[in-house]
Amino acid sequence: MSLFARKSIDDLRAEAFAEGEHTLARALGPFNLISIGIGAIIGTGIFVLTGTAAAQYAGPALVLSFLLAGLGCAFAGLCYAEFAAMIPIAGSAYTYGYATLGEIFAWVIGWDLILEYLFSASTVAVGWSGYVVSYLRDLGIVIPPEWATATGTKLVQLPGSDSWVAITGQLEAQLAAQGIDIAALPQTTGIFNLVAAIGVGFISLLLVLGIKESARFNNAIVFVKLAVIVAFILAGGYFLFRNPEVAGENWSPFIPPNTGTFGEYGWSGVLRAAGVIFFAYIGFDAVSTVAQEARNPQRDMPIGILGSLAVCTLLYILVSAILTGLVPYPQLNVPEPIAIGIAATGYSILSDLVKIGAIAGLTSVMLVLLMAQPRIFFAMSRDGLLPPAFSRVHPRFRTPHVGTILTGIGCVILAGALPIHVLGELVSIGTLLAFVIVCGGVLFLRYTEPERERPFRTPFVPFVPITGILVCLAMMIGLPLDTWLRLISWLLIGLVIYFAYGRRHSVLRRRAAVATGTGE
Ligand code: ALA
Repeated sequence: MSLFARKSIDDLRAEAFAEGEHTLARALGPFNLISIGIGAIIGTGIFVLTGTAAAQYAGPALVLSFLLAGLGCAFAGLCYAEFAAMIPIAGSAYTYGYATLGEIFAWVIGWDLILEYLFSASTVAVGWSGYVVSYLRDLGIVIPPEWATATGTKLVQLPGSDSWVAITGQLEAQLAAQGIDIAALPQTTGIFNLVAAIGVGFISLLLVLGIKESARFNNAIVFVKLAVIVAFILAGGYFLFRNPEVAGENWSPFIPPNTGTFGEYGWSGVLRAAGVIFFAYIGFDAVSTVAQEARNPQRDMPIGILGSLAVCTLLYILVSAILTGLVPYPQLNVPEPIAIGIAATGYSILSDLVKIGAIAGLTSVMLVLLMAQPRIFFAMSRDGLLPPAFSRVHPRFRTPHVGTILTGIGCVILAGALPIHVLGELVSIGTLLAFVIVCGGVLFLRYTEPERERPFRTPFVPFVPITGILVCLAMMIGLPLDTWLRLISWLLIGLVIYFAYGRRHSVLRRRAAVATGTGE
C-alpha cells in the first residue's frame, strides 16, 4: 500500500458519529466550545509578550501587528471550521491530512501537532509557575526557588529584590556594567519545577475525571480572565477619554521610523511583532480536537472556532491600543506590561487583579492544550499509528485517560528540561505549518470532492485558503534559521518512528492487505 493512502471521508464520518461505551462522551454545546477556544487563546501572549513586541519592534503600531496576525488566523480558522464541521473527529488537522494528503503526511502533521499542544503546554506551565510563586510570595508564602525552576538552571537573587532570576550571559554583562560582581550575590541551582508539576498534575486529573467537569472548570477561569481584561480596557479607556493628550503624545508617531535594521520599527517592525504575538492567537484550533465530544458538531464547530477567535481578536486590538496609549512604548519592555498600564491609570486597586487574571489565563491555556494533545494521540492510535494504550477510553469517565496521563507526564518532563525560548519558537513554527496544511487541504478537497456536503463552507475559495497559506508562510520565514533546523530534526525523528512502528501497525494498511490478499 502506498505511503500516500487516504482514509475515505465516509469512513471518517462513520467513526466520528459512532456511539457506545468506547467512544468519548458528547457533552459540549456552543457556549462551552467558545469558552474552550478563549481558554486556549488568552494567556502568555497578551499578558507577557505584548510589552516586548511594542517596545522592541512595533511601538504603537502593535495594533496593526495584532490585526495582521489576527487576519492570518482568521483565514486558517475559516478553513479549520470547514473541516471540523465536515469531519468532526478528535484528530483535527491530523485527520484532515489523512483524508486529503495520505498516511505519511497525516503522520507528519500529527507529530508536528505535538509541538503545538504538548510543547506549548510546557512553555505555559513554566510561565504559570513563575506567576504562582510570585503571587504566593505576595501572600507571605515563600516557595524555595530550587523547586520552581527547571533542573540545573542557575539562579541569582539581585540586590534589593526578593525574587530569583535565571543567570544569562546578558544579565552577567548588565551587572558587570553596573560594577556588580555576580559571584558575590546569593546563588542557587534549580532541582525540579515542582510547582509546574503540581499544576499539570491537578489539571491532568481533572481531564481524566470528565470532559463536562473540565469544561465547567474552564468556564469559571475564562470568566475570571475575561473580567480582568475587560476591567483593564474600561479603566484604561476611561483614563484616556479623560486625558486625550496622554494618548495623543504616546501614539505619535504611530509607526516609529525604522532604525535601519529590518524588524526594528517601521513596517518591517510591524511584521516582526506580528510573528512574535502570533503566539497570543495559538489555541483556537484546539476546539476542533473536541469535535467528537460536541453535541452538534456540524453546527457548533464553526461557532466555537470562529466565535472564540473573533472575541479574542477584538479584545487584543483594544488592549494593545489602550496599553500603548497609556505608556510610552519604550517603557513596555517588561514581563508584566498590563500591570504597568494599570499603574499608569492610577487605579491601583486593579493592580492585584492583573496577577490573578494572568494566573487564571495561563491555567485555562494549559487545561485546553492538555485536553487537545491526548485527543490527537487518540485518533492516531485508533488508526494504528500509535500504540493502542492511547485510544483506551475510561469506561466510567469516557475520557482518553491513559493518553491524558502520559501527556501530563511528558509536559512535566519537558517543562523541567528545556529552555523556554527554544520551546516557544518551536511552538509557533509547528502551529504555522499545521495551518498551512489545513488551508491547503481545504483547497485540495474543493477540487477533488466538490460535491461533498459541507455544513460550513469557507467563503471566497480559493482566495481565503491561498492567502492563509501565504500569510502563515510569511510568518514562518520570519522565524530564525535555528528554529527551522529544530523543526526539520523533529520531523525526521517522527519519520523514523513512523517507519519503525506506525507503518507496520497502520489499520488502513492492514485492511488493504486483507482486501488484496497480499498478507503484507
Ligand atoms: N495563545 C496562548 C497564549 O498566549 C498559547 O498563552
